Amino acid sequence: MKVLFTGIQPTGLLHIGNYFGAIRNWVDIQHDYTSYICIVDYHAITILYESEEMKKNIFEMALGLYACGIDIERTTLFIQSEVPGHAELTWIFNTVTPLGDLERMTQFKDKAKQNRANVNVGLLDYPVLQAADILVYKGEVVPVGEDQVQHIEFARDVARRFNVRYGNTFPECEALLTSTPRILGLDGDSKMSKSKGNYITLFESKEEIWRKVSIAKTDPARMRRSDAGTPEKCNIYSMHILVTPDKRLEEIATGCRTAGIGCIDCKRIFLDNLMKALDPIQERYKELSNQRERVREALDNNAAHCRKVAGETIIEVKRNMGLTPVWKI
Ligand code: ADP
Ligand code: TRP
Repeated sequence: MKVLFTGIQPTGLLHIGNYFGAIRNWVDIQHDYTSYICIVDYHAITILYESEEMKKNIFEMALGLYACGIDIERTTLFIQSEVPGHAELTWIFNTVTPLGDLERMTQFKDKAKQNRANVNVGLLDYPVLQAADILVYKGEVVPVGEDQVQHIEFARDVARRFNVRYGNTFPECEALLTSTPRILGLDGDSKMSKSKGNYITLFESKEEIWRKVSIAKTDPARMRRSDAGTPEKCNIYSMHILVTPDKRLEEIATGCRTAGIGCIDCKRIFLDNLMKALDPIQERYKELSNQRERVREALDNNAAHCRKVAGETIIEVKRNMGLTPVWKI
């Protein structure tokens, strides 16, 4: 089986953009590959954070992912900083990476602008650590949202450069996108994101979600109930697509175009369908919250397995680079 690798930052909450844009796909395909899912705490520390929060967020992310349907028995979900091989391979990859490539990365430029007071070397080196994450397991398939494609292409370049210089060691990894790689936020203007506050989390109650959805933007052409609209221009319709079955979706689209259905009715149907997707996740989350020991044990065992696999790659890499002392060969 091919190796699947993906990562997610432990940033405290999971929103429906994360779920429908990435995690749902991880759940669907996890058994088709040897799957690794990594909670990337070493990436998360490249921006300022609170230690107490981080401790909580790492475990919460594990609970959240298991609640979404990541298989606790078969998928290797683990915490990045538990496996030293990621940082070791980062150092090695640093030496085959041109500085200019890192300075050109879109996410670096954005984050450097947002965090002017803390543009640290780690922020610049972020994509190299990401390449090491994937390649230390010889990952080939990397399911992510659209915003990560540049980083995955960069990882492929790193693998190529290393292979050219030191001999064939790493596979060329590829991003795997879902059919909904970019979910818009409630504001309708930009992608749903933690940092923008335009999100619906997976663990909010129906009432809390309604409070947000009821005042969310729709097609600006529909000022009054009698105005016809264009579903493709409507933020709520773009989210309907995620949770509403095709036939019903067509009815809603027609209703919008002919002013047969009002925005509030449309939003109610969306809410009901969204809750059908979220209810089982919230249910599983509750169950798992009472099995914290089981989750901890899985994370510990998985990290031990990863140390072994990553350790083997590091030995091979060092051998290819001439870093193994002659008396050990
Ligand atoms: P955020 O952008 O909210 O900080 P992360 O960067 O932690 O989210 O993203 C985790 C995963 O979810 C990544 O694979 C990312 O590509 C995906 N993702 C995040 N936001 C969206 C979105 N609005 N639409 C689709 N996928 C998304
Ligand atoms: N940078 C990714 C994000 O912000 C998270 C990540 C870290 C990742 N390492 C990875 C994703 C390796 C895929 C593969 O979403």
